[in-house]
Amino acid sequence: MEIKKVGVVGCGLMGSGIVETAAKAGFPVVVREVSDELLKKGRSRIEVSLSRAVEKQKATPQDKEAALGRITGTTRLADLADCDLVIEAVIENMEEKKKLFKELDATAKPSALFASNTSSLPITDMAAVTKRAPNFVGLHFFNPVPVMKLVEVVKTVMTSEEAFRNVKAFAEKLGKTVVVAKDTPGFVVNLLLVPYLLDAVRAYENGVASREDIDNGMVLGCGHPMGPLTLLDFVGIDTTYYIAEIMFDEFKDDHYAAPPLMRRLVAAGFWGRKTGRGIYEYDEKGNKK
Ligand code: 3HC
Repeated sequence: MEIKKVGVVGCGLMGSGIVETAAKAGFPVVVREVSDELLKKGRSRIEVSLSRAVEKQKATPQDKEAALGRITGTTRLADLADCDLVIEAVIENMEEKKKLFKELDATAKPSALFASNTSSLPITDMAAVTKRAPNFVGLHFFNPVPVMKLVEVVKTVMTSEEAFRNVKAFAEKLGKTVVVAKDTPGFVVNLLLVPYLLDAVRAYENGVASREDIDNGMVLGCGHPMGPLTLLDFVGIDTTYYIAEIMFDEFKDDHYAAPPLMRRLVAAGFWGRKTGRGIYEYDEKGNKK
């Protein structure tokens, strides 16, 4: 079965990036959010990003308008009934995801493929609550989705070869390079990235160096585009904290234990760039102060 129409559930940071990327690649996309207000916010994020793509000469103004024309917003899951692939990008909470997939299973067409953009929760557990486990995969994008070239496609022990091949071909049509991963916590990238980010916080907390010098060390010494503390603010300290907790629960290894400073920042609501303060402080445009 060829994927022709795409559904996305959630139009936050990751969801809106997935919607934009699929629409830019020519797919009609239906995106569901829980309120009109969140849909409006998601759409304006997509418009800003598409305008930036035009500025950067990665797209023409016509491409931008065509992509926007392929996007339909809705607050009803039933409106995703004729989608061939539904990608979930809601909050990283297993109970929420299971509830959503049960509802989707009842409303989506029987042949539809399901994918979760989770960064660390077990795909198998979500697939198991549906009647279509062979048609269920992980499809993990990276932030910012329109820019980052990678997608992890996650195969569970129940995923059929056909579903896997279809979803992989879809990711390639988006212009992404696919890495195939097993359903283990953090897949490939976060398994390596999360302990690195936690170690950077530990280094800062222990006074090894200033936040700027820790970041400069990795930017100038290793050629990373962002230092770890800047990247942590960019990904979200809350998001990274939740991923670390999931990995710690699974592996019971101190390597994945969130350092105390990180817990305090999460509790304080200093979640990084999106809240104006994390390890660094930011202005309304998201630039470091
Ligand atoms: N649409 C399309 N292309 C765009 C674009 C847009 N809206 N905005 C920028 N671009 C292109 C630019 O044209 C440029 O392309 P080029 O290299 O061919 O010239 C490239 O993207 C970089 O853009 P800029 O030069 O404007 O931006 P910066 O140089 O400031 O880079 C960044 C910004 C891409 C975010 C870079 O700092 C970076 O790569 N940071 C690391 C991000 C990262 O590691 N993300 C993964 C996080 S982990 C994750 O998401 C997993 C989750 O589970 C936690």
